[in-house]
Amino acid sequence: HLATCYCYFFSSTNLVVTTTPRVTVTRGRDVILPCWLSPQQNAEDLEVRWYRTNRFDSPLMHYQSKTFKYEEAAYVGRVSFGLKDAASGGLNSGDVSLKLFNVTTKDAGEYVCYVSSSQGYDSAPVNLLVTASGSPPFLSVVWGEDDKVNVSCESEGWYPQPVLRWSDKKQDVKPQSLVYKNLSSGLVLVHSWLLLSSTSEPSCSVGLSDKEVKEAKVSLGTLRKTAKPGKENFCVCVIVILSLFVFDCKYSKS
Ligand SMILES: *[C@@H]1O[C@H](CO)[C@@H](O)[C@H](O)[C@H]1NC(C)=O
Repeated sequence: HLATCYCYFFSSTNLVVTTTPRVTVTRGRDVILPCWLSPQQNAEDLEVRWYRTNRFDSPLMHYQSKTFKYEEAAYVGRVSFGLKDAASGGLNSGDVSLKLFNVTTKDAGEYVCYVSSSQGYDSAPVNLLVTASGSPPFLSVVWGEDDKVNVSCESEGWYPQPVLRWSDKKQDVKPQSLVYKNLSSGLVLVHSWLLLSSTSEPSCSVGLSDKEVKEAKVSLGTLRKTAKPGKENFCVCVIVILSLFVFDCKYSKS
């Protein structure tokens, strides 16, 4: 707090920059990074810089003497001034928000909004969080020895890293392996497998938060009967018939 006051006294008497510190956007959408001056004042004749943290000298948008410059190749053609909300009067009422078009995962991170006038300058950061929701998980099943089944779950297209959870009959289970891969698209693939008994009912869920979860499940017992009819089903049948017979005999005796 002391440091804030100190800066305030020595850098600016009249100019205070305020931002929304955290903004979340889905990959591929447009986003506004809100930044405005208080008290409200016309910003048309001021200098406004938007830059990635520690890149003051290569701003992605630099507005000065009513002209624009763009120093970061990755943002050329993708940035402009925007309105922080529908009621905003724009630049001449001190709204210097940045509009960023077609957000990619590389855009995630911290930005700084800097405004300078003849009376002083001020700046404030905005942290941009980018998310992407991946494909529904794909389950695959391989039957092994000793009644053990290797169940794998895979899902791709996430950002940032999603959480993967396994459960069996609604009980949480720990996977034997959990691997994340960063794809060249900037998105993340997750793969996991575990060994279960052949009567399990595994479910694999993948998501960024508890609200948006994608899930796949399978009932191994049912799957096996449909996949491999024969010996097994025959045994079940015989046991059922035998027990009925025994049951029947008991009752007819008494
Ligand atoms: C289970 O399957 C995965 C492939 O999805 C494989 O990498 C792993 O080695 C298998 N585990 C066992 C114990 O066979």
